[in-house]
Amino acid sequence: MSDVYYPDYLRLDKILSAQELESVKQGRPAHDEMLFIVIHQAYELWFKQILHEVGSVADLFKDHHVDDNNGDLNIAVHRMQRVVTILEVLVHQMDVMETMTPLDFLDFRDMLRPASGFQSMQFKVLEARLGLRMEARFGKQYYTSQLRPDHKAEIEALEGVPTLLELVNAWLARMPFLERRFWPDGSVPFFERLEKLYADSLVQGEEANAKLWKDIFVTGSAERRLSPAACRSALFIMLYRDEPIFQQAFRFLEVLLDIDAGMATWRSRHLNMVHRMIGLRVGTGGSTGKAYLKGAMDSHYIFSEIADLSSFLFERRKLPALPEELKGALRFRS
Ligand code: HEM
Repeated sequence: MSDVYYPDYLRLDKILSAQELESVKQGRPAHDEMLFIVIHQAYELWFKQILHEVGSVADLFKDHHVDDNNGDLNIAVHRMQRVVTILEVLVHQMDVMETMTPLDFLDFRDMLRPASGFQSMQFKVLEARLGLRMEARFGKQYYTSQLRPDHKAEIEALEGVPTLLELVNAWLARMPFLERRFWPDGSVPFFERLEKLYADSLVQGEEANAKLWKDIFVTGSAERRLSPAACRSALFIMLYRDEPIFQQAFRFLEVLLDIDAGMATWRSRHLNMVHRMIGLRVGTGGSTGKAYLKGAMDSHYIFSEIADLSSFLFERRKLPALPEELKGALRFRS
């Protein structure tokens, strides 16, 4: 067996010969096209790492697995935290992109049509694996229209795969916190008390919010993807997050919101850069450009229903103590 050799191990022969400038091929070399290609390739490598992490976390949550007493949740938090850190790097990388000016870009932009970041398969797979369903897409007619048929089929097939959001929903829904057997008087004082506190806290102009309680924790609604049972558990975790048994679950919910925030920051930086670069012109991928990206940025949050639950938090001092029996049961389970 031969020794491992750095250039071979990293397949640098492949990676470093994968920058083929379209402007060179067309006989009008544009200096900044090298940067344009390298930046996109760097993004795609990071997308690959992100998918590796997100896929492994989804696997941990598959088949009710994460309840086992084996540190799964800790691993999930750690890996998702890594994704958040990578997203920060991706946002900063826009600074390098912006060292190319609009005029520099014009030297080769037209040669790229109809290619576009909109055809990034890994970005689409990431959105789909996290929880963005076709139905909820901004401009869903356009979403796969620019893809090759095999890529289109690959994205469509993901509609049949449980998303991370759905797996998290199932994990939350099967938590036993509110089962009547754990509450000494046979009722569920915590939730009844909370509903009343929430109703009392509504101020003028928030009357419509009274219905929110029912939509979120009791009946559910067609637009919401987290079930009432999952929302009750998530709120419970958020309220009792200082209890050692809930700390890891709370961190996990937090890191999901960090991912949403990281993706939104990336979208916002990309959008600003695009505006500066091409103004109000349509994208090379044929979208309305800035308007499409703004619509996607505003509507493609994945975990925002978890953030919604902050509406129902109240002061720690009003929290009922956790029944000992419940604490014991949770310690045993997690
Ligand atoms: C000169 C720099 C860039 C310009 C002018 C630009 C422009 C655009 C435009 C106009 C769109 C909308 C689709 C279209 O009509 O083409 C788009 C989408 C997209 N671009 Fe860029 N882009 C640039 C750099 C990048 C970089 C460095 C990445 C990193 C991978 C990237 C990734 C994406 C992705 C993933 C989408 C789809 C976003 C979504 O569907 O929400 N772009 N870009």
